[in-house]
Amino acid sequence: MTTPAVTNDLLPTLPSQLSELNEAQLNDFATAAETSIAQALDMTTLQSLRVQLTGKKSFLTGWSKQLGKLDSHDKKTYGGWLHQVRSRIQEALTSQQQHLEAKALQTKLEAERIDITLPARGAQKGHLHPVTMITQRMQQFFVQAGFNVATGPEVESDYYNFEALNIPSHHPARAMHDTFYFDAHYLLRTHTSPVQIRTMEQSAPPIRIICPGRVYRNDSDQTHSPMFHQLEGLMVTESSTFAELKGLINEFLQAFFGKALTVRFRPSFFPFTEPSAEVDILDDNGNWLEVMGCGMVHPQVLTNCGIDADKYTGFAFGMGIERFAMLYYGIDDLRLFFQNDLRFLKQFS
Ligand code: PHE
Repeated sequence: MTTPAVTNDLLPTLPSQLSELNEAQLNDFATAAETSIAQALDMTTLQSLRVQLTGKKSFLTGWSKQLGKLDSHDKKTYGGWLHQVRSRIQEALTSQQQHLEAKALQTKLEAERIDITLPARGAQKGHLHPVTMITQRMQQFFVQAGFNVATGPEVESDYYNFEALNIPSHHPARAMHDTFYFDAHYLLRTHTSPVQIRTMEQSAPPIRIICPGRVYRNDSDQTHSPMFHQLEGLMVTESSTFAELKGLINEFLQAFFGKALTVRFRPSFFPFTEPSAEVDILDDNGNWLEVMGCGMVHPQVLTNCGIDADKYTGFAFGMGIERFAMLYYGIDDLRLFFQNDLRFLKQFS
């Protein structure tokens, strides 16, 4: 941007001798200077005007230097005029500078403006894993029925996973568990039943707990995964009965599936319960589906945990959480739960 021509046009017409100037000329000069200043559209132009109009080599400074040579009367008169001209020019410079700064700020703000009317990208809302949702659905029922949630370690000792549950080494039941061993004493728990033992060791009856958690077995096909989840339940009181167990499980199954179900208790065997049963439900096609194991806690197991088996009785039940998830959602391959394919997982929101 170039300096407006006004001062250039004006200056040569003014005498450099102070004594040759009159008030009208000085007024015109000030007015012309103000006009030029007001037309300066950027800081560089304004700065060069400042130098031209008020700097060491400016007419104004030149005139001011001549004041000393005047007599006191003229000094006062010219001094007054020059002071006024300088004030007007300075004021014009200041106000134009403020104007330009404000404009620059405005431009900057406009350039940086955020368009809040743009539609947002949309937050992707996640949700719980289906296995977690099913676990919570199960827990909800039992917590309402007065059960507390208990947990235990996934790396277990042979004692808690087997011995204390009436499964000594070389017992055929061990072969059914496809255990992952670390060494002769430690293993990945094959079921949540060791949490029963730990709880009974640490607390006195009445006991009402459920133990959800990960368990491990060396097995993998459409209905088995080497890591899966179980939910175990245990109740020990002075008067627990098989009838009570049946009632509770019946209630649970109806509540979980949200509909009336035909439930069957089929005699079975577990070393840690006596008598033992498998629970089956009848599906829409008339097939019996096995959904859990249960039974009265074996007196030897109570004794192992320091509970008086003559005074107390208990019942326990255990189920596979993925199995329930498969039935609940109608999924035929258990491994889908652990492949973390979002196309699969997103269907459960
Ligand atoms: N622990 C048994 C299993 O994993 C299930 C079970 C639990 C059976 C409690 C009876 C009582 O197969």
